[in-house]
Amino acid sequence: MENEAKAPERLLRKESVEEKDARELVRQEKYLERAKLYVGELEAVLGRQPTYHVQNFGCQMNARDAEKLSGILETAGFTETADESADFVIYNTCTVRDNADQHFYGRLGRASHWRKSNPYMKIAVCGCMMQEAENVAKIKKSYPYVNLVFGTHNLFRFPEYLCGVYENRGEQFDIRGKKIVDIWDSTDEIVEDLPVARKYPYKSGINIMFGCNNFCTYCIVPYVRGRERSREPKDIIQEVERLSADGVVEVMLLGQNVDSYGKDLADPVSFAQLLEAVAEVPGIRRVRFMTPHPKDISEETLQVIRRHKNIARHVHFPLQSGSNEILKRMNRRYTREQFIERALRIREVIPDAAITTDIIAGFPGETAKDVDDTIDVIRKVRFDNAYTFVYSMRHGTPAAQMEQVPEEQVKEGFDRILAAVQDSAKEQTARQQGMVKEALCEEVNAQLEGYVTCRLSNNLIVHVPGDASMIGRFFNVKLEECRGFYYFGHVTDEPETDPGY
Ligand code: SAH
Ligand code: SF4
Ligand code: F3S
Repeated sequence: MENEAKAPERLLRKESVEEKDARELVRQEKYLERAKLYVGELEAVLGRQPTYHVQNFGCQMNARDAEKLSGILETAGFTETADESADFVIYNTCTVRDNADQHFYGRLGRASHWRKSNPYMKIAVCGCMMQEAENVAKIKKSYPYVNLVFGTHNLFRFPEYLCGVYENRGEQFDIRGKKIVDIWDSTDEIVEDLPVARKYPYKSGINIMFGCNNFCTYCIVPYVRGRERSREPKDIIQEVERLSADGVVEVMLLGQNVDSYGKDLADPVSFAQLLEAVAEVPGIRRVRFMTPHPKDISEETLQVIRRHKNIARHVHFPLQSGSNEILKRMNRRYTREQFIERALRIREVIPDAAITTDIIAGFPGETAKDVDDTIDVIRKVRFDNAYTFVYSMRHGTPAAQMEQVPEEQVKEGFDRILAAVQDSAKEQTARQQGMVKEALCEEVNAQLEGYVTCRLSNNLIVHVPGDASMIGRFFNVKLEECRGFYYFGHVTDEPETDPGY
């Protein structure tokens, strides 16, 4: 009787988000099993193991997505090649600036050449550019050899699409022109635990959240990546623990605005709490994060960094502009004064932290005086490094409607900003002459035989004599010869230079 009474309630109960995500994982795992059969058939036809190549563009988020695509392709039975001469090529696109778009179309055009020499080759396109209707239309019209197009919200369905490509079925897809095209406007799904093939054995990016709610007026990211969604802290910690058990010593927590992390969860958690929990996972020797937002970075986060030596002495702190008028029109929601105050607070709490930044030159309406203001902030904060970008108009963003700056003037501003950040970066780099610091050996130096390239906690690069056996391990290195933005040095037994706090 009791059971009977309960049954209707159970049947009527709405599926929770977690249950939906878990069910989707099971679906995709089934597709992955099926994909193995198709790849096996392809192998029999080719008489060798089928190959894949992921051509990746854009930011750390995309790099992480590329590892997910690789993981799925490798599980299906493909092996990686270094270039696009593969049986399955996938382009993971970026659209943050126009040159990223052009770069992709150039590569895709050249893919037809590979295609001609390999009738079994399949070509897929995904990523941020595919969230823009005009790009999907262009691919449908002008690139008949593309087999599959999907976007950022449905990457977890890749196993299903992969089967679709080899079956060439069109049940739930638009296969006009024999293409599978599936683009979603948004999603609330976060499907955990599909396979991932890491590019580096010793370090890994970890998504802590997806999307962005900030709508800076120049930026396309909120349109192509959707609204902010945080992953559950337990899932993140579990992933870090698994990575650590697998030999990973450095993790980078990824989000467009990490300071917003956790606010949308049923049990809200702050970014600082997450950062601390990650830093305490045994075996994790270095924790990085990208990107904090100057309007939101918290004192709590700075204190967590200070307390944990294994959290990188590096804060990427994107200025974008040092002019209050421009910041307002960019919708950055901080003033130059607030930015300077927060940057100097970082220097005070974590004196050995490097502060790096992003700056945009030529935002609509920018005058020589606005550029002067930006240079003034650069001088006051003394950035350790900076990326300077020429403003690129993105369709559909508010800034695209504003009056654009003439090209000549943009270039003049860009050159002045670049000179100022280079000055500041050189000065900050030179200050570390003679210090001993802990470095993670990342790779063999391709240009200089007998050398390896290491990275300090503060993100500085140092080249030291060594070999491949050092990769993924930590060494104390002495910074001996400053070459502008990087160093030459030696591994040493000397202890690290005391940061003085
Ligand atoms: N969420 C991060 C990074 C976003 S994209 C942040 O807020 O900093 C990385 C950088 O690209 C930005 O910091 C910005 O400097 C630059 N960028 C974004 N849109 C741009 C555009 N339309 N033109 C030029 N640079 C742009
Ligand atoms: Fe773009 Fe601004 Fe979001 Fe960064 S914070 S991704 S610049 S909208
Ligand atoms: Fe580019 Fe998308 Fe990243 S537009 S910068 S790849 S979020």
